[in-house]
Amino acid sequence: MVERTLAIIKPDAVEKHAIGDIIRMYEGAGLRPIAIRMMSLSKACAEGFYAVHRERPFFNDLTTYMSSGPVVVLVLEGADAVKVNRDLMGATDPKKAEAGTIRALHGASIEANAVHGSDSVENAKIEISYFFAESELG
Ligand code: CMP
Repeated sequence: MVERTLAIIKPDAVEKHAIGDIIRMYEGAGLRPIAIRMMSLSKACAEGFYAVHRERPFFNDLTTYMSSGPVVVLVLEGADAVKVNRDLMGATDPKKAEAGTIRALHGASIEANAVHGSDSVENAKIEISYFFAESELG
């Protein structure tokens, strides 16, 4: 089934000039970018995006980190896009991510793990609408 998912290329990956390689990997996996925006998240914007994690011990560090530098926010579309993207990203902790995945190639730590990807179709809808209006999706 054709799905949409939200991806974020995080500050560490932007800083190390990995934007192009990561987008190439999305396209190579059949995930078509239908919206792309480079932006700097305010702390409040990062807190709103990650609100489901607000009780977690890493919430403050995570949202401080996500607002520490520019990110690239994308909507990806393709068959089984949510799962295809999660497989392509690899495990949350880059040290545990399978070889060849985005996090194994570009992630530095569990926090600076290069990319975010929606974990379900339901959450993808919420996350996409957090950043994009329907009219911005190509
Ligand atoms: P992400 O897919 O963006 O979703 C939540 C993020 O929290 C996750 O990637 C990690 O970068 C970050 N994080 C930091 N510490 C932890 C942790 N101990 N367990 C899970 N996620 C963590």
